[in-house]
Parts: sequence; C-alpha cells; structure tokens
Amino acid sequence: MVTGGCGFLGSHLVEHLVTRGDTVTVFDSIAPGPDQVIARDHARFVEGDIRDGDRLTETAAGADVVYHMAAVVGVDRYLARPLDVIDINVLGTRAVLDAALRAGARVVHASTSEVFGKNPAVPWRENDDRVLGPTTTDRWTYSSSKALIEHMVFAFARQYGLEAAVVRYFNVYGPRQRPAFLISRSVHRALNGHPVPVYDQGGQTRCPTFVDDAVAGTVIAGDHVAAAGEIFNIGSMRETTVREVVDLVTELAGGEGPRTVEVDTRAALGAHYEDLNRRVPDNTKARDVLGWVPTTDLADGLARTVGWARANPWWLALPDSGAS
Ligand SMILES: NC(=O)c1ccc[n+]([C@@H]2O[C@H](COP(=O)([O-])OP(=O)(O)OC[C@H]3O[C@@H](n4cnc5c(N)ncnc54)[C@H](O)[C@@H]3O)[C@@H](O)[C@H]2O)c1
Repeated sequence: MVTGGCGFLGSHLVEHLVTRGDTVTVFDSIAPGPDQVIARDHARFVEGDIRDGDRLTETAAGADVVYHMAAVVGVDRYLARPLDVIDINVLGTRAVLDAALRAGARVVHASTSEVFGKNPAVPWRENDDRVLGPTTTDRWTYSSSKALIEHMVFAFARQYGLEAAVVRYFNVYGPRQRPAFLISRSVHRALNGHPVPVYDQGGQTRCPTFVDDAVAGTVIAGDHVAAAGEIFNIGSMRETTVREVVDLVTELAGGEGPRTVEVDTRAALGAHYEDLNRRVPDNTKARDVLGWVPTTDLADGLARTVGWARANPWWLALPDSGAS
C-alpha cells in the first residue's frame, strides 16, 4: 500500500512497484493525475483521508509493506495551513502506523532533510542534531511534525514490534512535482515565459536528487530486512547553488527576454520564513547498508524534467506558488 500515491514521489513509487510486478493499493485523498496511466491500469486506488483509521485499516488488510508518503508538503502550504501540517502529518501518521500494525505490514516512512533544521555542520549524518528556530516561526512546523512522526515510528517499533524504516529525502525533483519548489517552479515559470525568481542572490546550496533515485532508495528500504529500525539519508551529495540550478533550467527552457528576477525572501514571504544556507546529506549509510547510490546527473535529471513538462500542457497550466 502506498499512502499519498497520487502525489509526486508516491506516483513514481507506485509506477516502479507495479512495473516490477507488485500488487499495489494507493490510498490518497485525491484521484490519480492525468499522466498516471500505468498506475491507473495496474493499481487499486482508494480515496480517503489518512486520519480515517477505519478506512485505512480496511484498505491495508493483506499488505506486506506500507510506504507512507502522504503528508502536507511545501513551504506555501506550511505557511498558509500550519495547523493542517500538524494535524494531517502527525494524527494521520498515527492512523497509518496503526493500520500497518494490524495488517502485519512493514513500513517505510517518508521523512525529510528538514528534520535537521538549520544545523550549520553539513554534511548531515542521520544521527546529527536538529537545530531549529523558535515555535513562533511557522517554517519549523513541518520539520517538527516530521521529527515527531519519526519518534512515533520508533515508539511503535519499541512498544509493538512494528518493522519500520525511515527515509529522509533531500530536495527531490522531477516530472509531476507541484510547481511550488525550487526546480519545479523554475521549470514551470521558464517554460511559461516568465522570469524565474532567485531568492537572496541564489548563493544558498541544495543537493537536488532526481525522483527515480529517491524511489530506488525507498524501494530498497522496503525490501531490505536490515533497514528496519533505521533512518537513511536519501539524497545526492552533489552540492549546487540555487543560482546554478536556475541557470541550468533557464538554459534548457530557452526562450526570450529576462530569464531571472531577484527576490528578497523576507519581503516576499514575511518574517515567518527562514531560509537555509546549506542543506547537504551524508549518504554513506544508505550506500553501506542498502547499497543505494544516486546515479542521475543533475543536467540529465533537469533535461528529463523539462522534457516531461513540455509534453504535459496540463502541468504547465497549473498555477505556481511558494518557495523552497
Ligand atoms: N518532494 C521532496 O523533495 C520531499 C522532500 C522531503 C520529504 N518529502 C516527503 O515525501 C512524501 C511525499 O512528498 P511529495 O513531494 O510527493 O508530496 P505531494 O504533496 O506531491 O504528495 C503528497 C500526497 O499526500 C496526499 N495527502 C495529503 N493529505 C492527505 C490526507 N489527509 N489523506 C490522504 N492523502 C493525503 C496528497 O493528496 C498527495 O497526493 C511526504 O511525506 C514528504 O514529506 C518529500
């Protein structure tokens, strides 16, 4: 079972699982997207809210593995709906873990690099400290919700013997991602002929990880017995400045006129947002324990993302929003 299987990462995961021959059930509050063609033909879709424990339990019956991808994700959302972030992510996950336990299924939980907060000592190993700002800054709501969920996953393991692994993704990008994140928004704006915003001169760094690589790590974590009880950083270690990413995207997109526009984060998003200067994983553990390494080069991943976007006008017609 894949919760959030109609979302960005979940939809690619579902495709991967059905392609290798697994029987897959998707549990999501929305219907499958226009280009989830393979999944629509080969997976079962159940529409529901992860806070609905009965429906989840009924749906999860018979599952071997529950990949828990459903969550409220994105800076625009956690600034606009901080209560939903806490409510859906934390309470919903409680219900997902209960359902998995009743089904006797293993769990792979999708967590995030945001858990490390603004710890300046990069690269981050899985057991490094979390360094967060004040609770009056909404930016930390998501990080705290995902960290509390990790505690919950390990509490289920300790108290009830649930077999669960946690994967922490780092700036995953690729086809289908909502145009509210650094790369998806840049591709969306560039192909729609709008200048791409560069926040605070673009000197911040990220380690963009192509979705196929993130999915591969997720699947291994579900298959691998040694993954239970462990956390894995699933992210590329190639550090790139935001400016470099935007330049690559605008070059691939082509077009006329000004390609970028400078934005002051505080002026655009208000004092409740805090950006991170560097976000870099140490992915040694995933390599050593799972045998996982990301293999997609940034230029190649961006070219595939731009190519997909050009071929999917419905995505180009979506409104863009937010920052990440
Ligand atoms: N994309 C990234 O770079 C990234 C980075 C770190 C962590 N993650 C984590 O990976 C997971 C997937 O992220 P994504 O980028 O695919 O996000 P997404 O928003 O594209 O997908 C989330 C899915 O969850 C579903 N969902 C939300 N609330 C629900 C509810 N109450 N009941 C049922 N379904 C619900 C949504 O409809 C959506 O299909 C999330 O847990 C996220 O925190 C993603």
